[in-house]
Amino acid sequence: MSRRVRIIILSIIGIGIVGFVIFQLIPASSISAKFATPGNPPVTHTIPWDSPQTEQLARSACFDCHSNETRAMWYSNIAPVSWLVNKDVNEGRQKLNFSTGRHLEGDEMIEQIQKGAMPPAIYLPMHPEANLTAAQKQQLIDGLQATFGG
Ligand code: HEC
Repeated sequence: MSRRVRIIILSIIGIGIVGFVIFQLIPASSISAKFATPGNPPVTHTIPWDSPQTEQLARSACFDCHSNETRAMWYSNIAPVSWLVNKDVNEGRQKLNFSTGRHLEGDEMIEQIQKGAMPPAIYLPMHPEANLTAAQKQQLIDGLQATFGG
């Protein structure tokens, strides 16, 4: 490898490291409130689940973005991935929040699951427990219907 190529490669690595550190120092909320760390505010709503299985399936597949009991992953605090994760949680809670009773409409939840839109595909590789089998999906759909109607 020529000296010139080595300098170029080292420069790219150096710029990458500096850029990465700068990303960590930028307060996400200064870019957009959507990127701000959501935290886990108190749970203020109790759901009359029709069965422990329904609750467990919803917790595995929906709660990280649609409740105030979001489980943080190791990468959830590393920018810029953290910004995208935070955005999903902030927007997800806005649409539907099991912890506050916000928009708990069974038919909408079921429609999203049937369409394959929820849980989002991008979430699944890091969360295999949310990648429900066809039987689990049906069980969740039946349980959501029994719990929330629709
Ligand atoms: C990785 C985060 C994430 C997970 C997990 C997730 N959602 Fe969502 N969900 C979102 C986001 C972000 C939105 C708002 C943006 C959108 O509609 O795509 C949303 C929107 C919704 C909406 C409203 C759709 C609309 O257009 O009004 C429903 C209903 C919903 N989700 C149900 C579910 C259910 C049920 C599960 C579990 C089976 C689930 N979601 C899992 C992130 C998530």
